[in-house]
Amino acid sequence: MRIDIITVLPELLRSPFEASIVKRAIDKGLVEIHLHNLRDYATNRYKQVDDYPFGGGAGMVLMAEPIDRCLTDLTSQRTYDEIIYMTPDGEALRQAAVNSMSLMGNLLILCGHYKGVDQRIRDLWITREISIGDYVLSGGELGAAVLCDAVIRLLPGVLGDETSALTDTFQDNLLAPPVYTRPREFRGMAVPEVLLGGHSGKIDSWREEQALQRTRERRPDLLDH
Ligand code: ADE
Repeated sequence: MRIDIITVLPELLRSPFEASIVKRAIDKGLVEIHLHNLRDYATNRYKQVDDYPFGGGAGMVLMAEPIDRCLTDLTSQRTYDEIIYMTPDGEALRQAAVNSMSLMGNLLILCGHYKGVDQRIRDLWITREISIGDYVLSGGELGAAVLCDAVIRLLPGVLGDETSALTDTFQDNLLAPPVYTRPREFRGMAVPEVLLGGHSGKIDSWREEQALQRTRERRPDLLDH
């Protein structure tokens, strides 16, 4: 998989890809991340990429021309499965969308900033708009990092234990059951007996039961999907 990210703040997007599972995936050649600084596509000599909104109001808007130049350049080199714009008014990101994006070959992500991008860019280029939650970030970069992390960990060969993504919270629209490790007793609290018995059928049904109970208590909305 290849992911291209267009941003005015490439520095903000370096460290998320330099540690842990995502770094390992990059080192193994399972994913390539390419950062593109929007300023490199500025059309005037001040390298300006934002301007005041028509009609007035607070905040700046990312200008159409630099983004259009950048998108024209990148799409002339390869075909993208999706051209994604990170924005708080986009579709709320859910595991099902992450799963389907993990099957794609080329993703392009545009990070918004300030008050967002000129609407004509959205109308002309964007195939999908994604929000990572009902709160406003100072830019789309952290949202893009969240999306990339969620997608990359699902690529075949990334997680050590090939089956472990299947038991994640949200796969099957259920929260994950509680987990325990050694010691068997900690501050007088024991590990549930069923997990120590080695009876895999009983363990599976205990986990299913716990997952369902947790979901009912904490996220009943998931059971409606
Ligand atoms: N940019 C600003 N806020 C955002 C959010 N909640 N999700 C995605 N991109 C954003």
